[in-house]
Amino acid sequence: MEVVIVSDAAAVGEVSADAISALVQRKPDAVLGLATGSSPSELYRELARRVATDELSLAQCRGFLLDEYVGLPADHPQRYRTVIETEVVTPTDLRSERVQGPDGLAADLPGACADYERSIQDAGGIDLQILGVGSDGHIAFNEPGSSLGARTRIKTLTDQTRRDNARYFGDDIGSVPHHCLTQGIGTILQARHLVLLASGRAKAEALHQVVEGPVTAMWPGSALQLHPHVTAIVDEAAASRL
Ligand code: GLP
Repeated sequence: MEVVIVSDAAAVGEVSADAISALVQRKPDAVLGLATGSSPSELYRELARRVATDELSLAQCRGFLLDEYVGLPADHPQRYRTVIETEVVTPTDLRSERVQGPDGLAADLPGACADYERSIQDAGGIDLQILGVGSDGHIAFNEPGSSLGARTRIKTLTDQTRRDNARYFGDDIGSVPHHCLTQGIGTILQARHLVLLASGRAKAEALHQVVEGPVTAMWPGSALQLHPHVTAIVDEAAASRL
């Protein structure tokens, strides 16, 4: 795993945007794996800036989400499909119809997970997957104890993750869904390049375990050590335990 340590979150955004710009220059119809959460915010802001100044075009790219809450109404602002629409599609030229996520409103959730896996395969697989890491080491919504070979499936969120994410739900943990659909670690490891973003001290322990700890389901991100092409782009605070 290549670890790039930069000064702050804005620099994490710039360096990760460089990775996407280089890919898209080589392959204009690249398939991008899109994460939600605070970790990629600066990246998405920087992509929007580059598209606005004609340095970059995502018009031919496709996007696949990592995960989705189960049961949030289609117009809920925290539905991940909506978050990606707001943070990536609207401010760039990535086309809404070229973005897909697991359907957390499907009547048949296992069927929706299987369909999603097929859609990723049909698109030729993900070229570059953006990842954040939870404070407990989760990747997408693969919580501690998740199988390292799993595919897209339904998962139950831990109390820790629901507490961490309550800030997006008006600090009301009762409003955070209990279930989600998430790409499995096995799905994620099939992407050709994994780009892990982390900033801030709250991620220091997780990053230490993911980068330097043993490969264990108790720190699901540690499975990234098994992938041949991972770039971790992190700020000094997140790197403080490396
Ligand atoms: C969330 C998301 C993940 C994200 C992680 C870290 O629960 N499902 O995709 O990477 O937790 O979030 P943040 O970047 O806000 O710290």
